[in-house]
Amino acid sequence: MSRRRRNVSVPRPFLKWVGGKGQLLDPLLRLVERAGEFGRYHEPFAGGAALFFELYRIGGLGRKHAYLSDTNERLIDAFLAVQQNVDRVINRLKAHRALHSKDHYYAVRGEVPDGLIERGARIIYLNRTCYNGLFRENSKGLFNVPFGRYENPLICDEENLRAASMALTHAKVEVRPFGSVLEEVERGDLVYFDPPYDPLSRTASFTAYEKTGFGRDKQQELAAVAKALTDMGVKVILSNSMTPFICKLYADHFMIDEVLARRHVNSRADRRGAVSEVLIRNF
Ligand SMILES: C[S@@+](CC[C@H](N)C(=O)[O-])C[C@H]1O[C@@H](n2cnc3c(N)ncnc32)[C@H](O)[C@@H]1O
Repeated sequence: MSRRRRNVSVPRPFLKWVGGKGQLLDPLLRLVERAGEFGRYHEPFAGGAALFFELYRIGGLGRKHAYLSDTNERLIDAFLAVQQNVDRVINRLKAHRALHSKDHYYAVRGEVPDGLIERGARIIYLNRTCYNGLFRENSKGLFNVPFGRYENPLICDEENLRAASMALTHAKVEVRPFGSVLEEVERGDLVYFDPPYDPLSRTASFTAYEKTGFGRDKQQELAAVAKALTDMGVKVILSNSMTPFICKLYADHFMIDEVLARRHVNSRADRRGAVSEVLIRNF
């Protein structure tokens, strides 16, 4: 991969997502470089798709086909809307911007529109204006984040949305579970897995499972998929938290590097700070 950074600042993720990869981007890019030549690019836990956009921005994907998927339908709606008709998404966001207020926010939050473009613009608007800027749903799949009090939220970042739409030209974007990547890949492809992280404590583990439904059984299933991809000649990169469980799961067939990431998710200020994460690879 060419590491020549193109002198452009876009595209960047147009949604702020839980587990967004901002800080891990440099070590991840070094790994992609180390992977050498690859065929197509797959991100089966897309979220904000930070690595995909970064690779595209620096010219590391060229015209390669990319496969972005996630089980979150609202998220995929936003990607599809930006991919298929960015002009209409921008128009909808400008309309939201003109009406923006606490009342408008709750009105938009309370109703899911029928059309794809409207649904996509709704998610981008809520993501830009909600408390903490994080998309979060309750157990019934409803977006339940309160209004965020921002002075001047950037509701319609037109330049970035257009660049993201361009980046998505060669991408297949779908709602599907991670295991289906096995049906899409070809030998020589590159897959980046960024699953919900294995929690660092037992209490956190319980809460996390309640929220994401991604427990240790799913982590085991994922490790089996990563192993099957290895056997198929596919290059795999995976990020996760550094827990004994994860290290053991990948110890036999993968290389594991520790990286430090600053996290700001802990509500207790004294517990914020650097946490160890792992980057796992099969090459
Ligand atoms: C850690 S986030 C990914 C963050 C992303 N790399 C970014 O840069 O923003 C994990 C994602 O996995 C998705 N997810 C959870 N369970 C899944 C499953 N079984 N299959 C596919 N995606 C899943 C969630 O919806 C979430 O978007």
